[in-house]
Amino acid sequence: MVSTNAAFTAAELEAETERLFKAFLQVDCTPGKSWDYEACRNFAPLTLEINRLKKEKDAVILTHSYVEPEIVYGVGDYKGDSYYLSLMARDAKAKMIVFAGVVFMAETAKILSPDATVVVPDRGSGCSLADSLSGDQLRKLKAAYPGAAVVCYINSTADVKAESDVCVTSGNVYDIIAKLPQERILFVPDRLMGENIRTELKRRGVAKEIITSDGTCIVHDVFDAPAVADARARFPGLKVVAHPECTPEVAAVADFVGSTGAMMKYVKTSEAPYYLMLTECGLVGRLQVETPGKHFIGGCRLCPYMKLNSLEKVRDALLAPRPDQIVTLDDDIRHRAARCIDRMFELAPKD
Ligand code: 13P
Ligand code: SF4
Repeated sequence: MVSTNAAFTAAELEAETERLFKAFLQVDCTPGKSWDYEACRNFAPLTLEINRLKKEKDAVILTHSYVEPEIVYGVGDYKGDSYYLSLMARDAKAKMIVFAGVVFMAETAKILSPDATVVVPDRGSGCSLADSLSGDQLRKLKAAYPGAAVVCYINSTADVKAESDVCVTSGNVYDIIAKLPQERILFVPDRLMGENIRTELKRRGVAKEIITSDGTCIVHDVFDAPAVADARARFPGLKVVAHPECTPEVAAVADFVGSTGAMMKYVKTSEAPYYLMLTECGLVGRLQVETPGKHFIGGCRLCPYMKLNSLEKVRDALLAPRPDQIVTLDDDIRHRAARCIDRMFELAPKD
């Protein structure tokens, strides 16, 4: 049983268990975990406590699709990809924002909503991409490529954003780079996404030189093209759906490549019975809930950082956040980083 000091009646607990059970029905995306009725009964006291605390504290909970379903469907107010969540963070009127995702996402929320108290359930929830490049390293790269437009993927630190001309997400990267006047682009910190950008811009007939730093996502860089061929042989009619953090070899054999939000849209609007999702398993959990009748053949991977989020940590961050759970940023860095994110909002397609 999860630990909570809040008291609820048996009827409240039963109603919450039913609500959770209906919300998680069919999810079996994380190896070794199940979301059966007993699991929901176990979560119910905590989701009730968190939802009560949210009202008391005037808080909203933003959840990336990669976190576990009891957080996404149990307590999340907004769920989605990095771009959607950054818009929700910008427009949040709440006094407190709990970001159940990873630290760079919470930093982005603080940049966009500086007056809110922004908290992270677990300060260790880093990201191999964001951690691959510091502001100092980017300053050195910029000196080596004067005149290049500096474009940072949102999976980057506030320091890196402060040094960049424009921020992008996996959902708007091609459109934004295509609109920039400079031909030479210094794109950081994802080398594989940089390679995928080169391919996509060439396909669109946009002439750009893309220079990258050397980061990769430890979840997406391990998917491989031969495994895709093997899956296609076993499941005729299979649709292969990949994130642009995958290798170019994998992107080349996928039926669709896009942000987690675009991947969900693709599956929701496709007729195929079977899907291989080359991304984090939490997205498969969301699809299992939201696209009943479709089959996901496994192959997804867990992000160890996203999986550091838990209901207990969300509750603790809401109730009495420890200093390490509160996101703080230097004012100068925050202002400069805000400029680069605002530029993204100006240039991103409005759909
Ligand atoms: P999305 O913006 O596509 O959700 O990507 C975030 C991420 O961290 C993918 O690994
Ligand atoms: Fe970072 Fe990869 Fe995890 Fe996304 S999946 S948060 S890019 S490590």
